[in-house]
Amino acid sequence: MTGRRAVEVLPDGDTLAAAAAARIAAAAEAAIRARGVFIVALSGGETPRRTYQRLAEASGTTRLPWSQVQVLWGDERCVPPDHPDSNYRMACDALLDHVAVPAANIHRMRGEDEPAAAASRYEGELRELLRGPAARIDLVLLGLGAEGHTASLFPGGAALHETRRWVMAEYVPVVSGWRVTQTLVLINAAADVLFLVSGARKADIVRRVLEGPAGSGPPAELPAQAVAPARGTVRWLIDRDAGAELGKGSR
Ligand code: 6PG
Repeated sequence: MTGRRAVEVLPDGDTLAAAAAARIAAAAEAAIRARGVFIVALSGGETPRRTYQRLAEASGTTRLPWSQVQVLWGDERCVPPDHPDSNYRMACDALLDHVAVPAANIHRMRGEDEPAAAASRYEGELRELLRGPAARIDLVLLGLGAEGHTASLFPGGAALHETRRWVMAEYVPVVSGWRVTQTLVLINAAADVLFLVSGARKADIVRRVLEGPAGSGPPAELPAQAVAPARGTVRWLIDRDAGAELGKGSR
């Protein structure tokens, strides 16, 4: 059975962040009610920052029982944790430094380590955390790069085609740097995936990914199209600018 897909277009970046924070809070509440824990994989880049800030606000419906939340990352740049490009640093600045999540619940990809060693260590940590037949990531947050990458699964990269490992390191020529990334093996085993995409510069790639021809298997061209949890939902929250090309057919 292939999973379900839902696309929601919000007026702007702020309403996108509010909707995403509410969706994450709802997923957390359901997971904690069912299993006593919410395992979430954060995405990097810039788009999720406002969502993380909303989650950090103590008010309203997005208040989470942080002691029961396990925080992972979908990918990381191979830089130290205090580097401006670090996805971990962005999440700390916007969220984790402002909420009472126990340090032991924060599972950081060690960007400062040799990349393959960091990937192998992270896989071991996740295999320890996700023991047992029912254990899986409850929610994977993902972004979308202008050329179709998601997490650090880039067009033409080897990590995109991995069928066994959960985490891999890869040199990514288009960003001239090493990345550590979850592979589709782990992402597609998640209960739910939430893409957050904002801004006019993503409009073309959003159309191509959501309305273009879907490849059979993980397409080398559009990695985001290969995100399809067998037993889960892929939900897209996009703002109006990023959704501007939807429904206009292929040119
Ligand atoms: C990263 C992300 C990456 C990101 C997209 C979109 O480490 O950069 O994991 O997949 O989500 O590149 O980035 P923006 O939100 O900055 O456009």
